[in-house]
Amino acid sequence: MNLTVFGIGYVGLVQAAVLAEVGHDVTCVDVDAEKVERLNQGIIPIYEPGLDGLVRENHAAGRIRFTTDAAAAVKHGRILMSAVGTPPGEDGSADLQYVLAVAEVIGREMEAPKIIVSKSTVPVGTCDRIKSKIAGILKERGREDLAFDVVSNPEFLKEGSAVADCMKPDRIIIGTGSEKTEKVMRELYAPFNRNHDRIIMMDVRSAEFTKYAANCMLATKISFMNEMSNLAERLDADIEAVRRGIGSDPRIGYDFIYPGLGYGGSCFPKDVRALIKTAEGVGFEPRVLKAVEERNDEQKSVLFEKINRYFNGDLKGRTFALWGLAFKPNTDDMREAPSRVLMEALWQAGALVQAFDPEAMQECQNIYGQRDDLLLCGTKEAALRGADALLIATEWKIFRAPSFEQMREALKAPLIFDGRNLYDPEVMARHGLEYHSIGRKA
Ligand code: UGA
Repeated sequence: MNLTVFGIGYVGLVQAAVLAEVGHDVTCVDVDAEKVERLNQGIIPIYEPGLDGLVRENHAAGRIRFTTDAAAAVKHGRILMSAVGTPPGEDGSADLQYVLAVAEVIGREMEAPKIIVSKSTVPVGTCDRIKSKIAGILKERGREDLAFDVVSNPEFLKEGSAVADCMKPDRIIIGTGSEKTEKVMRELYAPFNRNHDRIIMMDVRSAEFTKYAANCMLATKISFMNEMSNLAERLDADIEAVRRGIGSDPRIGYDFIYPGLGYGGSCFPKDVRALIKTAEGVGFEPRVLKAVEERNDEQKSVLFEKINRYFNGDLKGRTFALWGLAFKPNTDDMREAPSRVLMEALWQAGALVQAFDPEAMQECQNIYGQRDDLLLCGTKEAALRGADALLIATEWKIFRAPSFEQMREALKAPLIFDGRNLYDPEVMARHGLEYHSIGRKA
């Protein structure tokens, strides 16, 4: 099937590559000419396991192409998928300028019936706005004869496993009121729906809301667990034992109950804030969501507070090794990463940070540039040299089993503050390392 994807960001590029891989003919369009040019040369703008090969192979096979030519792109696709960004506006609500700009281009350029699929995370009611925008333009053009439909088809991929998530989705949510559109959408996703039925059909507004409800539910689990971890510390209990104890209840489950430094990334923080705005916009007080956000904001400072308390507020001139900059493993993304709050607080207090991350070093450099109090180290071992303590902000696999002997020798003092509970406190004690973690006895 001929398909066009607007917006070659995370969601757009992964979804386009996966749809090309199963045999669809995909044109990707973006306003960023440099990005388009690089993609046509096989340079992938993001780090995502498996994506490079997928894009290159399908590009070479002629099933995917990248362009800035919106008119040709509109012409190409029977389905026009919009995956442009919905960044937070100043008040936290989703900024729809890119979504509506795509609608405008489609309205101006379409010459045949189209199905417009909204992939971006958009507030309930956005598909209706897209619909009236396109209808308005078609009216101006005197082309009300051109039929079109707007479908909500939110994306649930996770950074770091985006390709796998897209290849084998838990569910495919399709919001449409039209049987004809449903048939085409089922055809589009048929390759992903073979062994068991993953498609869940619903109305447009419920599909838009499902995306927010899913992310906010997951964010709620995390904030709840972080709250429990703070309480466990004060009650002399061990949150890791509690986690295993409650996770074994299938109604709770083991997923997304890991305490840590709070959720980051491009989705949870933005979506929780946006849903709060949406709720307030309809005169409803979202008490749970507000608490989820507040707990998360505070959680990002928990490790700094432990460090500051330990050193009695005397951090000036001290050096800290920091393992992990990305907001989670397997990505180079540092958007809303807890590591940033930690580093910035340390700098504010006059400390030096020696940081290492397997993928996010360049990103860190892009964000903070050259500064005297940040040393980006080539290896995790180099970051330890002469530091007053090791701090852990991201649970990358390569941090899980380091040589504790080497660690003790390299650090100035045998001291660890772990924001991700990577190690067993008893093992740390055996290695003569003083270990502070989240929700466990010091
Ligand atoms: C999230 C959702 O998991 C996806 O389903 C969704 O499609 C995506 O947002 C989106 O809306 O586009 P993502 O932001 O890539 O995906 O990352 P997650 O793996 O969900 O992690 C989010 C944050 O929660 C990370 O900072 C992670 O460290 C934190 N987290 C996660 C915890 O602190 N504890 C946990 O138990 C799980």
